[in-house]
Amino acid sequence: MTHSIPNLQVALDHSDLQGAIKAAVAVGQEVDVIEAGTVCLLQVGSELVEVLRSLFPDKIIVADTKCADAGGTVAKNNATRGADWMTCICCATIPTMEAALKAIKEARGDRGEIQIELYGDWTFEQAQLWLDAGISQAIYHQSRDALLAGETWGDKDLNKVKKLIDMGFRVSVTGGLTIETLKLFEGVDVFTFIAGRGITEAENPAQAARDFKDEIRRIWG
Ligand code: 5RP
Ligand code: MG
Repeated sequence: MTHSIPNLQVALDHSDLQGAIKAAVAVGQEVDVIEAGTVCLLQVGSELVEVLRSLFPDKIIVADTKCADAGGTVAKNNATRGADWMTCICCATIPTMEAALKAIKEARGDRGEIQIELYGDWTFEQAQLWLDAGISQAIYHQSRDALLAGETWGDKDLNKVKKLIDMGFRVSVTGGLTIETLKLFEGVDVFTFIAGRGITEAENPAQAARDFKDEIRRIWG
């Protein structure tokens, strides 16, 4: 097991382009990865990716499309506008994931990667098929709606995250994260923490991003 310091990714889930761009400008340099969030992509489309790429030419940019079908087309559309990584939902077919991977690599070269978003029911047998297809990033997600319904992070989540890491995935973790929740993952080789509202809705988003980074360094450094 390696012990690298987890990345910090900000998710821009604004309902308007201006809000997302304003937040990106405020926190973009404080984080490792910038996400064009699902909410905003559904509102404004991959223009969001294009603006983020022009603002941050060197950062990793993720299009959180949660793509379920037409993987090749969706990946091409986002990658040609500058997305390095794109998400596919775990219930998408392997051909959808493979088509997305091919398209994102064609446009972005070695930087191009597909991430599998884990929601609802999925199995470790399926996860092995994703690895076999050349996909080695997964996102372990507590959905907003599950959190609203009273779910919390717990051992059941940590055990699944650890098993995915043991299988060879780089695992990102997300869903209502705060600076206080990070310590739950102490000792786990998380690849990236993805925070949306915990950064963008803070009184001082740039300071919140720095606080996340400091806490990550404190725990994993
Ligand atoms: C929701 C998402 C969000 O981008 C992710 O969960 C981060 O948002 P927050 O920290 O606000 O929960 O993909 O499906
Ligand atoms: Mg997201």
